[in-house]
Amino acid sequence: MDVKLLRESFDLIAPNKQQFAQDFYNRLFSLYPQTQSLFASTDMKQQEAALMGAIAGVIAGIEKGENIIPALHKLGAKHAGYNVKSEHYPLVGTALIETLQQHLQDKFTPLIQQSWLEAYGVISEQMLLGTGQVKETKL
Ligand code: HEM
Repeated sequence: MDVKLLRESFDLIAPNKQQFAQDFYNRLFSLYPQTQSLFASTDMKQQEAALMGAIAGVIAGIEKGENIIPALHKLGAKHAGYNVKSEHYPLVGTALIETLQQHLQDKFTPLIQQSWLEAYGVISEQMLLGTGQVKETKL
């Protein structure tokens, strides 16, 4: 996972993070309307900040060499409490990658795409491990 590429691309979208988060949820709900009911009682303004805050926190944690695994397990367990199932994770991943492409346009290179796919894969796997819904992939 190329943290430098994650950082560079995150910094490009960060000035428009509110718009990014809004575009992400619009895309998620139009591609996968079945996800909308999970957010039925959610304050979407707060949620938009939470998403970008979580992404920023993960990147900063990796950069500092922190062990972010326990925090991801906890976040995953909380998500199980929000009724989020393992099959929802790829949907969010697709909406996230497509929103990155929309915002970065010609700066969205195959290497950047790969870095985000890897990062999202690791994050969601660790979140799901926190719910006991999946077993760890053995490399
Ligand atoms: C990389 C993966 C994800 C990250 C980093 C993430 C991050 C967050 C954060 C930081 C919160 C704020 C509350 C808390 O700390 O528990 C939250 C809440 C929530 N997330 Fe996620 N999330 C992810 C994946 C998903 C997926 C796959 C779904 C399902 C479509 C989802 C649905 C929700 C819902 C329904 C809430 C609760 C909103 C409320 O407070 O009403 N998340 N998420």
